[in-house]
Amino acid sequence: MIAAPVLSVDSLAKRFGGVEAVSEVSFSLRAGEILALIGPNGAGKSTTFNLVNGQLAPDRGRVVIAGADTAGLSPRAIFRLGVGRTFQIASVFGSMTVRENVETVLLSHRRQLFSVWRGGRDADGGDADRLLALAGIPALADAPASSLAYGDVKRLELAMALVGEPKLLLMDEPTAGMAPEERTSLMALAAKIARERDIAILFTEHDMDVVFRHADRIMVMDRGRLIVEGPPETIAADPQVRAVYLGEGFSPGPEAGEGSP
Ligand SMILES: Nc1ncnc2c1ncn2[C@@H]1O[C@H](COP(=O)(O)OP(=O)(O)OP(=O)(O)O)[C@@H](O)[C@H]1O
Ligand SMILES: [Mg+2]
Repeated sequence: MIAAPVLSVDSLAKRFGGVEAVSEVSFSLRAGEILALIGPNGAGKSTTFNLVNGQLAPDRGRVVIAGADTAGLSPRAIFRLGVGRTFQIASVFGSMTVRENVETVLLSHRRQLFSVWRGGRDADGGDADRLLALAGIPALADAPASSLAYGDVKRLELAMALVGEPKLLLMDEPTAGMAPEERTSLMALAAKIARERDIAILFTEHDMDVVFRHADRIMVMDRGRLIVEGPPETIAADPQVRAVYLGEGFSPGPEAGEGSP
């Protein structure tokens, strides 16, 4: 049996003045699948993300998350459908400890659920510590977030995105600003968590090593349109993708496709 997709996007379109930022974009994503959205600067990747997470309303088209049409829903309501996200620019509270950052998200999550959910524990440190362990930074729980190395800030953001046990994780350039060797390890961690918990990930990324190592499937966007979609091997060999983005000399390296099932 094939499960219904976690995310399904149909003919999505968004225009900013004269710019067709997203045009006729359709794709779907199933549980546990890791899908990369790549393409040149200004291709429409972040706009696509913001249409999915409800930050922007589409001019046309439909977004269905876990069976629910998101038309007219606020970002909060979409979050409640089971969507977690990390940001291109790290967004943690430097004055709080690492644990307090996660607790803040846990609290706000519980407050939002309160009308439909009255059981369970209070916001003690238990759940926060479990998420920090999952993100690989349990030892940093009591450290001020401002003291963290950048790679650990990104791990903290991952822990925060996992609050509420999302079915879908949206990661817009999760490794931006990180050292190259740290990037792969962050994405490896996210991929491992996703596979263990059957979470679908949609991510954008300019580091092709990260993309080709961890994506099950890659979509390429250029000037608002999806031009090709397929497994990493297909994308690496595609002449149009090489022309608009990867470059003629591109080679995905020996580990490419490692993340594929
Ligand atoms: N809020 C906005 N108002 C006006 N134009 C916008 C807005 N957001 C995006 N755009 C334009 O839409 C197009 C797509 O931008 P978008 O940020 O989605 O690209 P991107 O693929 O995420 O690029 P990058 O790789 O640089 O992050 C660009 O031409 C951009 O200038
Ligand atoms: Mg972007």
